[in-house]
Amino acid sequence: MSTDHSRALTSSVFPVAAHAQFVVVDDVNLVSRPAGLAWEVAGAPYVAGTTAYATVFAVDPGPDDTVVVSGAAGGVGPLAVQLARRRGATVIGPASERNHDWLKDRGVLPVEYGPGVAERIRQASGGRVDAFIDTFGDGYVALAVELGVRPERINTIRDWQAPAEVGARTYGEGAAACAVVLGELARLAASGQLEVPIARTYPLEQVRDAFRELEQQHTHGKIVLRPQLQLPERASSRHPRTSMRAGSGWSGWRCLRAVLHNAQSVTVLPRRPRG
Ligand SMILES: NC(=O)c1ccc[n+]([C@@H]2O[C@H](COP(=O)([O-])OP(=O)(O)OC[C@H]3O[C@@H](n4cnc5c(N)ncnc54)[C@H](OP(=O)(O)O)[C@@H]3O)[C@@H](O)[C@H]2O)c1
Repeated sequence: MSTDHSRALTSSVFPVAAHAQFVVVDDVNLVSRPAGLAWEVAGAPYVAGTTAYATVFAVDPGPDDTVVVSGAAGGVGPLAVQLARRRGATVIGPASERNHDWLKDRGVLPVEYGPGVAERIRQASGGRVDAFIDTFGDGYVALAVELGVRPERINTIRDWQAPAEVGARTYGEGAAACAVVLGELARLAASGQLEVPIARTYPLEQVRDAFRELEQQHTHGKIVLRPQLQLPERASSRHPRTSMRAGSGWSGWRCLRAVLHNAQSVTVLPRRPRG
């Protein structure tokens, strides 16, 4: 979800009101849109990007790890595979064949999903899978266990039953949706270090068509809704440095910890007085 007249992204829209021309957000949830980052791209990282960030954070892949990402070419998956690759991990991505070239070009080893996927993953990984990010559900947590992945290195954003049974993780958007993470994702996208594929852009009036396409579960990238607004450009621009107003509360430290390993600069501002 993107908002403001011309410059800002938001990391929080509660109560949920994402399909609207205007939303009210707390200013602490606003992030400057980097110059040159197209609106379609800038609007996508909030849910998909912060979710991908959380999934990668949850399984903590490193250069010695092989990680599988189900739904690798969908909406969340493409961002998760790139963030895992940035940490140096070997990434295997189940996807249909038409998406294999896109994955290969990003350093991902694609495999076909469907019957026999476990064997294809074993072959691609050389028999050792260290972590598993599931963005699709439908039995992938059980597959990860079958492949020998330790439960604490399995994360799903779609299946709540299986993690409860095997002790896997369910880190999603809620674990990383803050202005600091969003700002970092926007910076990576603007500098060409993170590609945010856009499947298609719909005008807001065609929101039903957008959902029909989404329901097919074969989109590559994000579907973007774009409201038609004619609003004046603002004269001033915000300073590009990342800032965070979170104090020393639990959420604040969680966000700060999540970005410390790759943030360029983080400024923690004092809590605003209540009342
Ligand atoms: N918990 C959270 O915080 C959170 C946040 C955001 C999203 N979500 C959820 O995460 C899910 C993922 O959404 P999304 O937009 O990334 O993708 P999606 O639209 O649910 O799925 C699209 C992808 O799924 C792939 N796919 C289809 N059938 C498959 C199968 N049998 N095995 C493996 N992959 C298959 C497609 O691949 P091909 O096109 O290559 O066939 C396509 O890349 C959604 O359920 C969404 O609600 C959760």
